[in-house]
Amino acid sequence: MAHTKKKIGLIGGGQIGGNLALLAVQKQLGDVVLYDIPAAEGLVKGKALDINQLSAVDGYDCRVTGSTDWKDVAGSDVVIITAGVPRKPGMSREDLLEVNLKIMKDVAGNIKQHCPNAFVINVANPLDAMVFALHKIAGLPKNMVVGMAGVLDTSRFKCFVAEALGCSIRDVEALVLGGHGDDMVPLVRHSTVGGVPLTQLIPADKLNAIIDRTRKGGAELVNLYKTGSAYFAPASSSIAMAESYLLDRKRVLPAAALLEGQYGISGYFFGVPTQIGAGGVEKIIDVQLNDAEKAELNKSFESVKKTVGEVKL
Ligand code: NAI
Ligand code: 2OP
Repeated sequence: MAHTKKKIGLIGGGQIGGNLALLAVQKQLGDVVLYDIPAAEGLVKGKALDINQLSAVDGYDCRVTGSTDWKDVAGSDVVIITAGVPRKPGMSREDLLEVNLKIMKDVAGNIKQHCPNAFVINVANPLDAMVFALHKIAGLPKNMVVGMAGVLDTSRFKCFVAEALGCSIRDVEALVLGGHGDDMVPLVRHSTVGGVPLTQLIPADKLNAIIDRTRKGGAELVNLYKTGSAYFAPASSSIAMAESYLLDRKRVLPAAALLEGQYGISGYFFGVPTQIGAGGVEKIIDVQLNDAEKAELNKSFESVKKTVGEVKL
């Protein structure tokens, strides 16, 4: 019988990579190849074995293979990139550009060679610049390359809102746009709880504190962990995007997608609402913004543009 299970290539078997493998198996999205550099062979082989043994307990019919050979990643339906160095306390995401760009050049070249038909989700930071480099080097169609940040930033915002109101997180609808940096834009005017505008439920000063905490959400985790950055929520957020593609869910999820005129921006990857289905990024939604929101989004874009300007390919 033909092999009909989907194949998920995870590039980088570190903190996020390991959690991605676990979630992919638990959600039975397909078989997983957890790839890392030869120095980390034991790490990926160990994580694969450990998760496969968990599958026996829980009865998951998806397997994880730990590998240091790109040939094993070849033909993946989805590739998620977490190869790169995470920040340490005091560092900005932009401080990672030089070292992570070197890694991205290697990874993107291999994706071009081995996985030209995959839907590729980049997670490595600085997010918007790295996905820009990935697209340029790998030469994939624009609808098949995205960056994960918006789902995470939005879920942080939702989490703080639910905590502030003591309400179910299921009823919080929100959207965070822009670059994955400290000037990302939580769209308060477009956020609701059970259909009720957020601005009616939370006083302005409290809401501003939530916005500020969301913007600095990554740093809050870095300061707690000290040795690296967040990994559980980033892994879940990336899996939501992969699942929408693999199962053709057509979910509307914020993602760093290539803009071609939307929001007045062209030629850059930037966090906007997208629809993700079997066609990859099937739609980009151009939200109508007021002048204040436009100004905030432009500020965020200027930061992304500056970092992308430092990308030497
Ligand atoms: P980690 O250090 O635990 O894992 C990174 C892995 O990449 C390591 O195992 C390393 O050996 C591997 N690697 C290095 N060079 C490689 C190469 N050429 N090919 C394949 N693998 C390679 O880091 P963690 O915590 O998993 O984070 C990964 C990245 O994700 C970081 O850049 C971090 O800043 C970023 N991040 C992004 C978020 C987002 O919202 N977009 C959220 C959290 C982290
Ligand atoms: C985060 O937002 C550091 O980008 C990483 O957790």
